[in-house]
Amino acid sequence: MKNRKTILITGCSSGIGKATARHFHQKGWNVVATMRNPGKEKSLSEDDRLIKLKLDVQDKATIKNALKSAIKRFGKIDVVVNNAGYGTAGPLEAARDDQIKRQFDVNLFGVIDVTRAVLPHFRENKSGRFINISSMGGLVTFPFFSLYHATKWAIEGFSESLQYELEHLGIDVKVVEPGAVKTDFAGRSLDLFDVSGYPDHQSLVEKMKKNFDQRSSKASGYSEPEQIAAVIFKAASDANGRFRFIAGKDARLVWRLRRLLSFKLFRAIIKKQALG
Ligand SMILES: NC(=O)c1ccc[n+]([C@@H]2O[C@H](COP(=O)([O-])OP(=O)(O)OC[C@H]3O[C@@H](n4cnc5c(N)ncnc54)[C@H](OP(=O)(O)O)[C@@H]3O)[C@@H](O)[C@H]2O)c1
Repeated sequence: MKNRKTILITGCSSGIGKATARHFHQKGWNVVATMRNPGKEKSLSEDDRLIKLKLDVQDKATIKNALKSAIKRFGKIDVVVNNAGYGTAGPLEAARDDQIKRQFDVNLFGVIDVTRAVLPHFRENKSGRFINISSMGGLVTFPFFSLYHATKWAIEGFSESLQYELEHLGIDVKVVEPGAVKTDFAGRSLDLFDVSGYPDHQSLVEKMKKNFDQRSSKASGYSEPEQIAAVIFKAASDANGRFRFIAGKDARLVWRLRRLLSFKLFRAIIKKQALG
């Protein structure tokens, strides 16, 4: 098994992470599917090329242990996908301190900690690739997601700067920016602030929630997680030094509009779409 390529992915219990684990497995890679509670995960089966390991990005000991077990099992890790993440939503003033902290701990510091833990291994091998799952929300913003955007814009800056620094060591960094995807993101994973103390925000928040609801007609344009997994596979296989992989029709359209239109016009469109 030691001559196959090996990928380690965070956040494989659902959505994009799970679809990516399946996709790479089907493509013949060794897969280290990490998650907070591997004991609860029943739909990904272990075999000689797939192992499930505990990794909570908020817990450095689990990061270290997962890497150790993965290297012991497959000898080498070639690609790490920093996928674990979730969104907070609502007016900033309604957010509690612990909600703000957790958003940054998971989406930003988790990525930094995993990256720093993997670096000695990539350095030793003089090769390795990080694929950081940013978001269309790492390039543009939508109302009431200020903290989520702050983490994803940070991921963009972190990744873009890091790729210069690691290139001469044979290590590269890429970002994947999905648009809206049919996962648990907008359901069980979404941390909504309690707006009951802010009645003046309530009607706008309701509009935002309605537009964001996966049961709405707008959700027909959402990507399937398997489509994002295919883009992650492209990023893992890229030999042309491409940095950015925008994933999903909606994300490509929004990014095109952002570059073509004046910010004033772009902002008016976003406002109408999200709150109109
Ligand atoms: N869905 C979208 O529309 C969309 C769009 C752009 C970007 N993204 C990004 O895509 C990534 C994956 O999200 P998804 O859409 O697949 O949503 P999802 O189905 O909710 O999956 C999120 C995953 O992150 C894991 N996670 C949360 N906190 C963690 C922690 N402390 N340590 C390790 N894992 C943790 C969750 O594990 P548990 O099961 O333990 O909670 C779950 O496996 C995120 O970074 C998200 O920001 C999603």
